[in-house]
Amino acid sequence: MHHIKIVNIVGARPQIIKASAISRAIRLHYSDRITEIIIHTGQHYDKELSDVFFDELELHKPDYNLGVGSSSHGRQTSLMITGIEDILQKEKPDCVLLYGDTNSTLAGAIAAAKLHFPVVHIEAGLRSFNKLMPEELNRIMSDHSSTLLFAPTNAAFKNLMKEGFRPENSPPYSIDNPKIYFTGDIMYDNTLFFAELAERKKASLLTDLGLDRDRFILSTIHREANTDDITRLDSILKTLSLLAGENLVKFVMPLHPRTTNSLKTKLEPLYRELLDNKNIRIIPPVSFLEMTLLEKSCKMIITDSGGVQKESHFFKKPCLVLRKETEWIELVKNGTAVLVDADPVKIRKEFERFISDGAGLEFPGFYGDGKTSEFIIKEIMSLFEQ
Ligand code: UD1
Ligand code: UDP
Repeated sequence: MHHIKIVNIVGARPQIIKASAISRAIRLHYSDRITEIIIHTGQHYDKELSDVFFDELELHKPDYNLGVGSSSHGRQTSLMITGIEDILQKEKPDCVLLYGDTNSTLAGAIAAAKLHFPVVHIEAGLRSFNKLMPEELNRIMSDHSSTLLFAPTNAAFKNLMKEGFRPENSPPYSIDNPKIYFTGDIMYDNTLFFAELAERKKASLLTDLGLDRDRFILSTIHREANTDDITRLDSILKTLSLLAGENLVKFVMPLHPRTTNSLKTKLEPLYRELLDNKNIRIIPPVSFLEMTLLEKSCKMIITDSGGVQKESHFFKKPCLVLRKETEWIELVKNGTAVLVDADPVKIRKEFERFISDGAGLEFPGFYGDGKTSEFIIKEIMSLFEQ
């Protein structure tokens, strides 16, 4: 019986959440055959962007934390590569698991591929076709460093084929003969697993925040394009503030520190106005169970987050996407998510449409059967049984 060692690279909030799904599948089926090592790059370090998820989602604490912190893209990524390289040389894993599209993902891909450790990319093939966003470069380079690529959607799988990946490749797989899969989404596994628990453990959150079920809007904003471009941030938040007042509907906004920092330093008067607006609750980032409860209980979601867009679908809520394009195009084609950019006219039009006729929307199952992590782990094991 093979025993294998897997190194997981995490760094940003959504990766910790994703790694918990894989870790749960390992504990369920392979605890005697897989040793799991977690490297945390330290890209996210505030408690509410990192520790809270380890505690709540029962992921074992990182075996290593590189503590790289925040800096420019090049500096942050290079510090991560150096740190990951040292650990990989020491640990000599059988493969390296990467999640999503952050700088931590890219650093893991470069360090592992150059040392010839097989890279497994979970959430492969997603493309926005906008290389000005840092995540797009991270995705492309990570995919092309990988041996096993798990695409969560049909669109992502097709993107890989367009870039020359061949579904007909046969074992033994390698970086030059990679294997691509169309699976579901491991975040759907998480939502199914945690939704009821969120309800049981966190129900008091709604009362604490003064929110009535189905009568509030949940909004998050954190993308570089929105937080660093003050014109966009100003335009989005002013529009949401007006809509909250006109429709007498409450907004709850768990804000990423990046967004709060921009508001405090560059849009101070607007920030104060928002804090004074009794229909808007700006709060610090919440835990995954709290977020799950908010998503499950709200009327509509307005976000620039990739993960939150999908979760809007899992909970059958309409979603306004504060971007020009999205990787999750099936949501937009389905009509339940709409790209509103940072445009006040579009935001208002689509908000009013969804608030008045939320009913009648259909939310087909695009993201698998809730057992994607188990499938992925089984396939990783088979890589070593060829
Ligand atoms: C990163 C990812 C993004 C992902 C997001 C998830 C990249 C290029 N971006 O964006 O794809 O959607 O994580 O949340 O990898 N900060 C804190 N505390 C922290 C971490 C960050 O205050 O614990 C602030 C710092 O001011 C920092 C800024 O947030 O400069 C940006 O952090 P960074 O990790 O570079 O990017 P994110 O915007 O978090
Ligand atoms: N999330 C959370 N608390 C918050 C905001 C988001 O737990 O305050 C979760 C959310 O439910 C989703 C993930 O974080 O699972 C998405 O991460 P984020 O929006 O930071 O990044 P993206 O998905 O855009 O990369």
